[in-house]
Amino acid sequence: EKANMDLIFERYKDRFTALPKEKGWHTKNLYLYQGHWYPSKYLFSIANVMGSQETFQANPTDIYLATLPKSGTTWMKALMFAIVNRTKYKNNSLSTHMLLLSNPHDCLPFIENEILRTNPTSVVENCPRIFATHTPYTSLPQSIIDCSCRIVYMCRNPKDVLVSLFHFANKLRDDSLGPITFEEAFKMFCEGVTPSGPYWDHVKGYYKARLEHPTRILYLTYENMSADTANNVKHLAEFLGYPFTKEEEAAGIVEEVVKMCSFENLREVNKHGNIRAGIPKPAFFREGKVGDWNNHLSDEMSQILDQITKEKFHGLDISF
Ligand code: A3P
Repeated sequence: EKANMDLIFERYKDRFTALPKEKGWHTKNLYLYQGHWYPSKYLFSIANVMGSQETFQANPTDIYLATLPKSGTTWMKALMFAIVNRTKYKNNSLSTHMLLLSNPHDCLPFIENEILRTNPTSVVENCPRIFATHTPYTSLPQSIIDCSCRIVYMCRNPKDVLVSLFHFANKLRDDSLGPITFEEAFKMFCEGVTPSGPYWDHVKGYYKARLEHPTRILYLTYENMSADTANNVKHLAEFLGYPFTKEEEAAGIVEEVVKMCSFENLREVNKHGNIRAGIPKPAFFREGKVGDWNNHLSDEMSQILDQITKEKFHGLDISF
């Protein structure tokens, strides 16, 4: 994948080096493409997004999970994978489940990284194919927009996304770049300069698409999912076309799925090692709470972000 990343970078380099750029979070820079910011050479890089726009072919039976980084992608990947594949593991239940042996990111791939793969995983060839993406709705490969496949969008309150991104970026930043301070992170976030951001435009893009295609797009929040995971999982399973039967509900399968994908369980399973793309597995599990921003944002910072959010989401029924 590393060699392919270099190839893709070379292929699109001339197209993006002239674009506006700013200081990045886990990478040196972010580039502005179609109104959103992307790393130059990394997973979800601008080159990967350009490449997937040119080559990715959606099928009507596909299912997509769309998120901004740090909005609960790992959790949702685990839940969607567990729901769709649950009958395969029924008899020997949890002890051999793939989610107990590998990280959700290695079970369910990102479309942006598919072009890096020389040997797509068998999971990808399954039907339905399930992919994740951080790409904004307006920049998705056209075939995803055109075909009638389902999209699950998960978003999270902006303050927790900022805090989560700040910690994640500092864990992943190259030593040569030095750490970013929380004040810097706050400023970059407010200015909209975040991977696949601005935050508000990403949320609005999918929110508005959901208004146009209510049966195709399911809109979830991390907060709602945390408050009532079991009911949301049931609803999600129906949307995905894999509803839990009465017998399954009576046998406690919903609770089993919720427990297997819980923060505590996934953190324990992912204590060591790296995902295929090279990121240390523990980096995806930090606090797993709603409202950790209270421990990081000053009152003034909180008020500024509230004000920006109020203005950007004006007239839309978006709350967390
Ligand atoms: P925190 O940094 O606030 O703890 P993503 O998967 O999109 O990168 O998001 C990562 C965030 O989701 C992190 O938030 C992480 O701890 C949290 N998370 C990971 N797995 C989770 C789970 N199973 N349940 C709830 N939150 C989870």
